[in-house]
Amino acid sequence: KIIALLTGGTTGEWVVSVKSAATIAQNLDPDKFDVYKIMLTQQGWFYEPADSVKIEVDRNDFSVTLKGRKIKFDGVFIAIHGSPGEDGKLQGYFDMLGVPYTTCDALTSAITMNKGYTKAIVQGIEELFVARSVQIFKNGAYKTEEIKKELKLPYFVKPNNGGSSIGMSKVTNQYDLQTALDKAFNEDNQILIEEFIEGREFTVGVVKLDGKITVLPVTEVETAKEFFDFEAKYTPGVATETTPAALKKESRERIEKIVTQVYQKLNCRGIVRIDFILQGGEGDFYFIEINTIPGQTATSFIPQQVAAMGMKLNDFYTKLIKETIG
Ligand code: DAL
Ligand code: MG
Repeated sequence: KIIALLTGGTTGEWVVSVKSAATIAQNLDPDKFDVYKIMLTQQGWFYEPADSVKIEVDRNDFSVTLKGRKIKFDGVFIAIHGSPGEDGKLQGYFDMLGVPYTTCDALTSAITMNKGYTKAIVQGIEELFVARSVQIFKNGAYKTEEIKKELKLPYFVKPNNGGSSIGMSKVTNQYDLQTALDKAFNEDNQILIEEFIEGREFTVGVVKLDGKITVLPVTEVETAKEFFDFEAKYTPGVATETTPAALKKESRERIEKIVTQVYQKLNCRGIVRIDFILQGGEGDFYFIEINTIPGQTATSFIPQQVAAMGMKLNDFYTKLIKETIG
């Protein structure tokens, strides 16, 4: 199959996207796939062959013309975190062209990119809890006094459509709220302010392979930093990540049941990763967010979880492509 591996992007997460694409490229079986890595940038979309200058993608039909030969793709492996790869824009474009891709569809991608809207959908799921939160808009009237009245400190201030903790702060003192809001508004027009839940933090991949929803081994994340921020996420050694996490059988089974329902309720496809807190250690499950293009860098959770499941990354990607592209 001829596969376009699409990476880059237009947000601060593009650096992570390029690293994810490198892992994917290294682990796509060369006997099965002919892979063209395409970089999406503000300046255009380019295929960069090793032996020639970069070639611009024809966006009318998502093709590249190489030495006079037009190449069209059997499918697209989308490795772009944030916009326009994780928020439904590219999914809508590929749907219109009739080109299959590896991720959730346009609607699910658009909804799940927004942490606040996602919480509103998943909160009906049995045994799933969400932290109290307030959502505010840049162009809407909001009063910091009301936020302070509504929520108990400490809280997290997050760009609602962000990723990798860019623009995010933990506020422990109400005098720091305005600075945190300004920082988040720098990234997004919409902000989510969410109460802090005391407990252990986890993340788990969920994927449909061979027609069956599979929950990967859960990872526990511990960091000495105030929270699992960009540095802790991408600097090896700054966070301790344990896969599989030490959890009682009851907790593990409850997590598997809840995240399977999240996957179904949001009508997910491909591999997603759900971040959550167990209050007090192994108590109530608090949903943080779902990532529909989870990181695949060499140190990311999904490659760790696939290894812990005893599967080769190479086989995992082959199955993922078979399930989503055919
Ligand atoms: N947003 C980052 C890439 C992740 O969820 O892994
Ligand atoms: Mg995220």
